[in-house]
Amino acid sequence: MSKVTNNFHNDFCPQTLFLYGTKKEDGSADFGLFCWFSYINVDGKDGSHLGVMACIGEEKMTKDNIRRTGVFSANLVNEKLLPLADYYGCTSGRAVKDKMKLSPTIEHGNVLDVPLIAESPVNYELRVLKEIHLAEGSDLFVCEICNVLVEENLMDKNVPFPERLKLANPVIACGELSYCTTDGRFLGKWGDLRKELKDVK
Ligand SMILES: Cc1cc2nc3c(=O)[nH]c(=O)nc-3n(C[C@H](O)[C@H](O)[C@H](O)COP(=O)(O)O)c2cc1C
Repeated sequence: MSKVTNNFHNDFCPQTLFLYGTKKEDGSADFGLFCWFSYINVDGKDGSHLGVMACIGEEKMTKDNIRRTGVFSANLVNEKLLPLADYYGCTSGRAVKDKMKLSPTIEHGNVLDVPLIAESPVNYELRVLKEIHLAEGSDLFVCEICNVLVEENLMDKNVPFPERLKLANPVIACGELSYCTTDGRFLGKWGDLRKELKDVK
């Protein structure tokens, strides 16, 4: 098969979507949608273990809150959460003061002072170890995973993993600004799903 050059392109390398939960100065929650998230090994308090790296683009409320508190949550987005996630991804917390008028069920972190989304099947509680400035408006947050909460049925090893993955039903951000399921079902374009929510145009 011949190939074409297409630099600076990651369309066929889909990323799982997460809602990052942070606390504002008044202690209330803010959520933003993120896909530039991946895994690394870090030196934590108890030696080397799994961590994550989160790349955050231009200045935004999520970044303000992470820098101030040093902690945040990452909540896996599944198909059911997608309209709300799309709304959070297309609505600036800095510009839209009542962004959080639409809210999931918020729970308090088990080990960190972070807001978690009860409807999300997997929640990470993350502590920032290091912030690395990469380019204008682009910063990498290297994080220690302090806790992971996973829905019980997803941990049932009697059920084959592909079946449990179907149950978790994570959404991936794939090429051409679209959303898909992990088995390749098209769910819509970025910015369209939020229109399914009441009170959102
Ligand atoms: C599908 C999707 C994926 C996104 N991924 C990222 C990302 O990885 N990094 C980033 O900085 N912003 C990303 N965004 C944009 C943020 O979600 C957006 O800036 C949002 O306003 C952040 O919330 P906040 O303003 O309350 O901080 C993404 C948006 C969408 C729709």
